[in-house]
Amino acid sequence: MCGIFGYVGTRDAAPLLIGGLKALEYRGYDSAGLYVVGAGCIKAVGQVKNLEAKVGDTMKGHVGLAHTRWATHGVPSEINSHPHSDCTGKVWLAHNGIIENYSELKDELIAKGHQFKSATDTEVAAHLIEENLKTMPVFADALLAMLKMVRGTYGFVIASDQDPEKLYIARKGSPIVLGIGEGENFVASDPSAIVPYTKKVIYLNDGEWAEITSSSYKLFDLDGHEIAREPQVIAWDVEQTQKGGYDHYMLKEIMEGDNVIKNTLAGRLDEEALSIKLPELADVEDRLKDIKRIIITSCGTALYAGWVGEYLIEEYAKVPVECEYASEFRYRSPIVEPGTMIMTITQSGETADTLAALREAKRQGAMIVSIVNTVGSTIARESDAVIYNQIGPEIGVASTKAFMSQVTLLTAFAIKLAELKGVVTAEANKDIVREILALPEKIKTILEAREDIKAVAQKYASYDDFLFMGRKYTFPIAFEGALKLKEISYVHAEGYGAGEMKHGPIAMIDEKFPTVALCLNDSVYEKMISNVQEIKARSGRVLALATVGDETMKKMADEVIYVPAIMEMLEPVLCVVPLQLFAYYIGTGRGYDVDKPRNLAKSVTVE
Ligand code: AGP
Repeated sequence: MCGIFGYVGTRDAAPLLIGGLKALEYRGYDSAGLYVVGAGCIKAVGQVKNLEAKVGDTMKGHVGLAHTRWATHGVPSEINSHPHSDCTGKVWLAHNGIIENYSELKDELIAKGHQFKSATDTEVAAHLIEENLKTMPVFADALLAMLKMVRGTYGFVIASDQDPEKLYIARKGSPIVLGIGEGENFVASDPSAIVPYTKKVIYLNDGEWAEITSSSYKLFDLDGHEIAREPQVIAWDVEQTQKGGYDHYMLKEIMEGDNVIKNTLAGRLDEEALSIKLPELADVEDRLKDIKRIIITSCGTALYAGWVGEYLIEEYAKVPVECEYASEFRYRSPIVEPGTMIMTITQSGETADTLAALREAKRQGAMIVSIVNTVGSTIARESDAVIYNQIGPEIGVASTKAFMSQVTLLTAFAIKLAELKGVVTAEANKDIVREILALPEKIKTILEAREDIKAVAQKYASYDDFLFMGRKYTFPIAFEGALKLKEISYVHAEGYGAGEMKHGPIAMIDEKFPTVALCLNDSVYEKMISNVQEIKARSGRVLALATVGDETMKKMADEVIYVPAIMEMLEPVLCVVPLQLFAYYIGTGRGYDVDKPRNLAKSVTVE
């Protein structure tokens, strides 16, 4: 997705703008550009370093804005890169989102004599401000009028020769964060670009805009009313957004696994009483006691975490749960009866389909409880209750630590809900809480064996097709393991329920089509043994995940990766770790940049 960065202060803006764009590169983009008030605009296709090469030492000025573009309207090209300006070259802006009525606005503006340079929707906004300035001499009025004329979503950062010491920002559906510095202020579409300079931030809500100078900021709503809002302090430090000595963010984030569980449960697990508390649910506890059904709706990896949640909550809290792809839920005509709780799960808190599904469910009167990693994100702010992951930024495009944290929180939620509904006593909960306390150490043993997993991955590095199969609590993990492999190594990998083998997939199996089989010592172990035998009988190679000490699997499978024994309900968060590492080593073995896989973005904020 696109990245926005802006600066207003006393330092040279250009190098700071380049630095800001580099911090946002992981979001995925195809071109970049920047504008410095009084020094002009430069653009470049490809990586930010191509733009940096054009800066030179001529671009002097201390107010500017910059953008990395992910094409939605108009092909990737310099002319279509942001920032865009009006006819006079006095108004410059960068934009995230989609202006849905840009075509009719553009026709009207052309009829009034405006000359357009690009094929983008964004450029319309600059010309609208220019047109408005003809009758509204105050820049802020002309800007506000534009915000009311466009339909769709936007995150804007805007500069003008008329107000050379100011930046203007506005948001509707696309995140914009203001960073409050000392004698300087920053703007970004993602706080990780601001953290190196300041941790004091203000998140704009939809329908808000602001004017910023080096020493002040004023926040307004679309009626022009000023809004008072104190800055939040981000707990993340720069270190957390660096790679911590590993080759890739993805490996760093996998290797954080044991701490991810601890951080996720910090303040939520009483080791003495062996109990779980979720203070974020305090305001909705009464409503939770009465819920009759839960719908979990999310995208990608977050939905696979939801699948684990479905099994956990039904088995443990005895509440009916169904999972839905948000991209389907929002377009079909779902029935959300009274007494239904919607849960969205999202790392970024900005995924367009998940947000739309949330809003549809809210429109039907449902209570929204969300599991979110990004503090202050849109989905967080539109939920009735938010359970934050507390795991710091996830930079790698492939979601790893966020998934582990999401599954951990779903386990905590199932336990809490079971207690609230009187299905399980606090005393009975102690067994599962005791097992949860042992999780970090068990994860650590897997992480410490990563070189063994790397060796196994190298044996499978040349295959172009994989089947991942699991049952019950490892069913979602089969899909998540397949997704990890396909998204960072571009290899065809399918997740499947092992019980489905006979209904088609086994036809694909031969010596060129290996299977990753999740065969832990659990209630479906014997069934999995049969599936592995079926695969072997058809010359299929099998990499098995098995419980430490399982000698049967050692004889039956071609390779085995062992995981520590664990209670069945907690298998998912353990089994996913070797599969994340497996995918990582195959992807890096193929020479790909696993942090920024082709065609993917970290946060899918467009549909
Ligand atoms: C996961 O590896 C993918 N990058 C993707 O499926 C991701 O989980 C999905 O886009 C949802 O993102 P979110 O958690 O930020 O909503």
